[in-house]
Amino acid sequence: MSNRRCTMILAAGQGTRMKSTLPKVLHPAAGAPLVVWAIEAARDAGADSVVVVVGHGREQVIETVRARFGDAVRFAVQTEQRGTADAVRAGLTAVDDDVTEVVITYGDVPCIPAAALRALTDARAATGAALALLTTTADDPTGYGRILHDGDGRVVGIREHKDCSAAERAIRTVNPGFYAVDRAFMADALGRISSTNAQGEFYLTDLVALAATARAHNVADVPWEPLSLRGVNDRAELAMVEDVLHQRIADRHRRAGNSIATGARIDHDVTFETGAVVGPHTVLRGRTHVGSNVVIDAGCVLDDARLGAGSLLKAYTVVQRSEVGASAQLGPFAHLRPDSVLEEGAHVGNFVELKKTRLGRGAKANHLAYLGDGDVGAGANIGAGTIFCNYDGVQKHVTTVGEGAFVGSNSSLVAPVTIGRGAYVGSGSVITKDVPDDALAVGRARQDNKLGYGARLRERFAAAKRALQAAASAAAATTKQGE
Ligand code: UD1
Ligand code: MG
Repeated sequence: MSNRRCTMILAAGQGTRMKSTLPKVLHPAAGAPLVVWAIEAARDAGADSVVVVVGHGREQVIETVRARFGDAVRFAVQTEQRGTADAVRAGLTAVDDDVTEVVITYGDVPCIPAAALRALTDARAATGAALALLTTTADDPTGYGRILHDGDGRVVGIREHKDCSAAERAIRTVNPGFYAVDRAFMADALGRISSTNAQGEFYLTDLVALAATARAHNVADVPWEPLSLRGVNDRAELAMVEDVLHQRIADRHRRAGNSIATGARIDHDVTFETGAVVGPHTVLRGRTHVGSNVVIDAGCVLDDARLGAGSLLKAYTVVQRSEVGASAQLGPFAHLRPDSVLEEGAHVGNFVELKKTRLGRGAKANHLAYLGDGDVGAGANIGAGTIFCNYDGVQKHVTTVGEGAFVGSNSSLVAPVTIGRGAYVGSGSVITKDVPDDALAVGRARQDNKLGYGARLRERFAAAKRALQAAASAAAATTKQGE
């Protein structure tokens, strides 16, 4: 395999302004840690190898990256953060000998498009320059290195903000921090960078002046729009890049043939087939998969949900680590807790909660129910207000409802219990014993109609009230006499 180009991602910094114990590059944006976005951009741009330079929180960073990329990403450790040139020097120890070009990016700039990195390597290939860099403009260039040009408009160096003269501070063409560099040039030039500057750091940006003076036209600059080059220093910037990423993800799924309302937040690992309609204020997280022609109405929150073709999630439905079969319907306000399965065409309606429960093909629980640890056969009907009493305070037990069974409203099925196929449960029953197939179980007090009792009751209550009033006025008269 060719191993010409290595992308090095600098991620050793602490990120103090995040005010967090989590290393900055592990903060999630749109469902993936910042550094994961940076690694994916490198790979999409055609890097043959990727090296992440780690320092602060390195065990955690390495563990997270390995969990996603295995051995495809290498690490180099920068023990002390002495500046970006020092970080690259550390990084080079993990770069193979046959690498001829190193692309340098940041672990905290997640929106960097692969196209921008490709533009850098293309610019070097086209000009033969030792170094190519992205440049951009900033309305407020504070904190950025300023790009210095000569009289012919060629880039001759970068001045860090803290080292700028007043005139240089006015420059609005800035360095976003992305470079493609000839490996041999860089290995040599890094040794010539000193730390005599305002911050006492080894500045990688000094490479630019070294390349510019090495021989004519040895720097290629690639102008790029600023939005996608935004870095994250604090949680306000984290929220801004997350918006950009969510927008980008939604647009990708839109172009693949799904209608996605603005304001839907679809995370990194969510997958779609085509023809889905996703409403506003929806949140799709984890490894959620949306089948073809699924409709997800406003306000739904889905975590690791698998939605079968043509399923319909009405407004404000919540699904956690569960499966929804083809053409099944849920909501509004339905809640599938982990390990629930709705088979094809099953219906779950308002204020119905399922936990670790299977609802067979075409089975229905349309209103106000709790079905925990249950197994409901195809075509069964669970009436409004039914509760699977699955917990005895110590253990959870299973409720089984056979195919085609009918559970009347407001029934409590005390698990472990089995309702047979085609059986009926009378409304308001408390079922503690198994019900045989095709039986009718009635587990409630028998109704008794007492004729004429309404009038008799009313007279009794009225007499009681009169007696109370008489007693009260007698007591008032006694008090008055005593005064
Ligand atoms: C750097 C650039 C500046 C540019 C700005 C863009 C230098 C000297 N300056 O400035 O021209 O405008 O980025 O954001 O390069 N890092 C390490 N080890 C270190 C120092 C930094 O890994 O010793 C990593 C950080 O984790 C971060 C990146 O390098 O991801 C940039 O470091 P940071 O200190 O933010 O750079 P700036 O000083 O802002
Ligand atoms: Mg710095």
